[in-house]
Amino acid sequence: MMSNFRVTSEIHTENRNITSLNEKNNSTISKFIFNYPIHMLNLKNKEIKYDSDEDLILDRSKTGQLFIEHSISTELQLVGLQVWRGAFLLADYIFDNPKIFKNKNIIELGSGVGLTSIVASMLAHKVTCTDINSHGIIELIKRNFDRNSRYIKSKFNVMELNFLDCNWSSDLMEKILETTIILAADVIYDNEITEGFVDTLSKLLDSDTKRTAYVALEKRFVFTIADLDSVAPMYEEFMRCIARRNLNWNIENVNIDFPQYFQYNRNKQLILMKIYSKN
Ligand SMILES: C[S@@+](CC[C@H](N)C(=O)[O-])C[C@H]1O[C@@H](n2cnc3c(N)ncnc32)[C@H](O)[C@@H]1O
Repeated sequence: MMSNFRVTSEIHTENRNITSLNEKNNSTISKFIFNYPIHMLNLKNKEIKYDSDEDLILDRSKTGQLFIEHSISTELQLVGLQVWRGAFLLADYIFDNPKIFKNKNIIELGSGVGLTSIVASMLAHKVTCTDINSHGIIELIKRNFDRNSRYIKSKFNVMELNFLDCNWSSDLMEKILETTIILAADVIYDNEITEGFVDTLSKLLDSDTKRTAYVALEKRFVFTIADLDSVAPMYEEFMRCIARRNLNWNIENVNIDFPQYFQYNRNKQLILMKIYSKN
């Protein structure tokens, strides 16, 4: 039985730029401001200035704004309609690492409202943004891509990829074959979904094409359908799933001390893993 337990992302208390609220369907369009990374600025004839702490000083003309449609709070099974901190952490990492992401073919899993994929689209060659096709989430992502089209430089597709169904369509297979980078933010929060996510990752990583996954999660976000509470650390469950399958993966914890381009609380429970197959 589906639970009607409601959850709310902390992003809304950390971001004061919500622009309009549609009470009827509990959805809103928020303005998420970001500082441009230095490699995306046209610095011709402009001086780079630093403050006394040696932090880069950016004026408002060097900031951008993403307009993202999302829900403020949802039932547990609809968390994809909200924005979570992991999406920002991964977006920051992309901004800070053009060498890894520029001109690459990238797939995002469990993309939610599409924010991280939209940021990836500013640098990549092609982005395939995926999630389950339920409660209008695929259409919502497409609307968010349209809303932010002025920033998007890459080709992109928005399509269904369900962790619980590894029989991928030929259309999806075609996109996957081109990809070398996998992104996933905050998709580890429920046992069954985590099992499916590990199976999906295994199919993507243990292939002839060398791929690297960047997986962000907040260890505190452990709302499980079974417990209806913030309890069992899903990070450990993720590790157990990997161990049970004897997957020959390298898992590195990426230092998250890189600059913050979006406004959110980058707390110590946020982690970013770089995962690839040793085979
Ligand atoms: C907590 S949200 C994170 C969304 C987004 N990545 C973010 O960080 O804001 C979890 C995401 O996993 C997706 N998800 C849940 N079950 C899934 C499944 N079986 N297959 C693929 N994605 C799934 C949800 O729809 C949702 O987008």
